[in-house]
Amino acid sequence: MQNYSADDKFIRELDPKDHEISISTEDLHVFYGESEAIHGVSLPFERFKITALIGASGSGKSTYLRSLNRMNDNIDGTRVTGKIMYRDLDINSQNINVYEMRKHIGMVFQRPNPFSKSIYDNITFAPKRNGVRDKETLDELVETTLKQAALWDQVKDGLGQSALSLSGGQQQRLCIARAIAMKPDILLLDEPASALDPISTSTVEDTLLALKDRYTIIIVTHNMQQAARISDYTAFFHLGNVLEFDETSNVFQRPKITATEDYVSGRFG
Ligand SMILES: Nc1ncnc2c1ncn2[C@@H]1O[C@H](COP(=O)(O)OP(=O)(O)O)[C@@H](O)[C@H]1O
Ligand SMILES: [Mg+2]
Repeated sequence: MQNYSADDKFIRELDPKDHEISISTEDLHVFYGESEAIHGVSLPFERFKITALIGASGSGKSTYLRSLNRMNDNIDGTRVTGKIMYRDLDINSQNINVYEMRKHIGMVFQRPNPFSKSIYDNITFAPKRNGVRDKETLDELVETTLKQAALWDQVKDGLGQSALSLSGGQQQRLCIARAIAMKPDILLLDEPASALDPISTSTVEDTLLALKDRYTIIIVTHNMQQAARISDYTAFFHLGNVLEFDETSNVFQRPKITATEDYVSGRFG
């Protein structure tokens, strides 16, 4: 097998004149103790588009994604250097209120993790903690977010039932509804369908496509078909570097480097 180095990088630059950028990283490095997991990644994420992060297991996709809303802060011994630019602010800097920042940049994890509460309370929990008290406002929020997450029709007559009684796909869509209840700009999703069956996967994909009108979506996926189906841009991670970043159709049909071609065609990884 050929060895690929970071020198092979082929990163498409998005011209800010034509592409509104929601969030970007500049020379982002992530260290777990002495070990460097991300080696200086610079990527732009376009507003109202879906960007897929692909690459073999251990290539750093989750580490990179987690750093975008500072989830790595919670892991002892982790150090993140470089810039994460969001609305002219470097949100990787010390003086950022991480709690406030996460209202703008929400996250959905690999395994559905609804609270052991009712469907209604799952969605209203964070808004209530943030001072939303009016019942009508909360009811409306539950309805709109469940509609956006394509779950409303299935649960509207049982909003008081436990979230844990839902199927896996429904739970994941509830977690998406819960994330968007805070009205974020950006949604980060780490393999949100990997624990789901094909039908639930397809409903989650449809949900993400529908959400694209309102949110900038960044999704880690090991499923090549999924990346090809739903994303506008794809970044290919390899050993903590991004070797290629381009429109998804180019990455899949006209990859610039053999490492990408090998990966997307299933020859390694
Ligand atoms: N909490 C952690 N502590 C130490 N090393 C970690 C931790 N999480 C991930 N790593 C290491 O960082 C590298 C990238 O992992 P990860 O981001 O999980 O990759 P991916 O999501 O692409 O599978 C791997 O070598 C992994 O072992
Ligand atoms: Mg991962």
